[in-house]
Amino acid sequence: MCGIFGCTSLREGVSRVIYDSLKRLEYRGYDSVGLATIYNGHIFIKKDQGKIEEVERKLEISKLPGRCGIGHTRWATHGAPSKENAHPLTDCEGKVAVVHNGIIENYLELREELASAGHKLRSRTDSEVIAHLVEDFLNKGLAIEEAVRRAALLLRGSYAFAVISALYNDAIICVRMESPLVIGVSRDFVCCSSDVPALPPEVESVVIMNDGELAVLTPRAIAIEDLVSGQQLPLKPLSKESVGSLADRGGFAHYMVKEIHEQPQVALNVMSAPRAFIFKLANELVKPDRVYLIGCGTSYHACVFGTYLLRLMADIDAHPVVASEFHSSCIRMTPNTAVLAISQSGETADVLQVLRALRDKDVKLLALTNVMGSSITRLVSLYVGLYAGPEVGVAATKTFIAQLLMLTRICTEAARIKGVNHDLASSAEKFLRSSASLIEKAISVNEPRAKDIAVDIALRDNAFFLARGINIVTALEGALKLKEISYIHAEGYPAGESKHGPIALVEEGYPCIFICPRDETYNKIIGNIMEMKARGAFVVSCVEEGDRDVKEVSDKTFVLPEIELKQLTPVLHVVPLQLLAYYAALARGCDPDRPRNLAKSVTVT
Ligand code: AGP
Repeated sequence: MCGIFGCTSLREGVSRVIYDSLKRLEYRGYDSVGLATIYNGHIFIKKDQGKIEEVERKLEISKLPGRCGIGHTRWATHGAPSKENAHPLTDCEGKVAVVHNGIIENYLELREELASAGHKLRSRTDSEVIAHLVEDFLNKGLAIEEAVRRAALLLRGSYAFAVISALYNDAIICVRMESPLVIGVSRDFVCCSSDVPALPPEVESVVIMNDGELAVLTPRAIAIEDLVSGQQLPLKPLSKESVGSLADRGGFAHYMVKEIHEQPQVALNVMSAPRAFIFKLANELVKPDRVYLIGCGTSYHACVFGTYLLRLMADIDAHPVVASEFHSSCIRMTPNTAVLAISQSGETADVLQVLRALRDKDVKLLALTNVMGSSITRLVSLYVGLYAGPEVGVAATKTFIAQLLMLTRICTEAARIKGVNHDLASSAEKFLRSSASLIEKAISVNEPRAKDIAVDIALRDNAFFLARGINIVTALEGALKLKEISYIHAEGYPAGESKHGPIALVEEGYPCIFICPRDETYNKIIGNIMEMKARGAFVVSCVEEGDRDVKEVSDKTFVLPEIELKQLTPVLHVVPLQLLAYYAALARGCDPDRPRNLAKSVTVT
């Protein structure tokens, strides 16, 4: 939610560097954009509502003069998307500019105090108070770094922000408190960014800021200090390669479809993750009396999958919980409980909130995430990476596959440690070894079918995704993908439940997508298909190769390779549903990489 970027350079043209980086941050928010630079002792600002390229065409934000500046791409929380609410935001005199990501919880009282002290606040954002607070402290004669520190100490909430001042030609002061912020260092410039993939290619090393730190950046130096004590802290630079870098679209029209096509490679990556890491995590899961798996959105669906497998393969008392619903009132904590947090970004505020609340309790905190150095990795005692590479498309695809495969590896290892369910573990290992080629086949066979079926689905406003057993995960994920990028209302539902209410919606041509591997639910699901067909539904089914019965009663089918361990069919059956969502979005003229109202990292609760 919102991307911030700042750069201070030895050379002119810093606004171009900021602009290019904002384009890489746009997945964090894209309802408005803005840039501010310092030139000849003045701050120059250009900003407006709209996507970055639209605003660039209108205002040429990449042509602002100067060697030092900050930029912002916004996902509105406080105040509607508008020019006034776009960042950078300034103080009364236009001598301080700020870009902010996160939420200032006490902004209303700060606004009131500032207004009664004579400050003129022009936006409806929570962020603007920062600029005015810094202004106040500068007017009291403090240096910029101390003024920012004092201002930050008055804020409550989670935030990362960067400040420039007309009084300091080449300095950026930035602060991190529960929202991500990293520093990039190159030969000619130093920059700060909401995440690593947005860093310019010239960056050679990266410093990941911790919560409660303030950094002073100039083109040749970085100083980091503790926000409260002001004490200088040692720098711990990492090579850029070790924290990951951004891939481009590689000839694909969108990141989403590129990332779907990367899934076979992701399967190979997951298989190459060192067994020692997986063993360590599995070993922590077999010890507790109870394990909660927490996540949001797609990652929550992975939690449901992981729960099934932990119970089935390793006899572990596992429970999935949507992170935003993890309240102590509804959760029974035993003295020996573990929490496994699953998050692609490692920055989802709902997940972080749970981990922060549990950090001082007697609970083992574990995580699976795709982003090394993310906030989640600092809060848990042990984590395993997803090895999926950077995911840019707002709709999670390859990281979901990575989550399912990594969970399969972990559950297999847990079964081995406990010495139970040998056959299931061997069967899972067999699947994992061939998963890359199976996913490859799932894509190549079904992509033309997805293009064709999407034409029908795109004409509709609703769809059901129905399944039984473990494939309820697939149904939930298929529905989420379709609704988030094509804006077709879709519901994932247990097929057996459909007759208890949802079936009332079904009429001629109503799309019902069924997931039907030949497992123990097969005959029952045929019954559910017949119920829908009798009411005129347009039935699309995901079937295994060689299937005849479901094919016969379906209007269209996706065909997936047959596998032995049916509990792992979600790994394959979700692939055509990702493609269906993608092509339905295109058919409806939607941008699959930048769905409205969404952002890649959801850093608000
Ligand atoms: C997935 O397509 C969504 N964009 C969203 O539901 C996402 O999975 C959710 O916000 C959780 O994100 P995380 O995995 O980064 O924690």
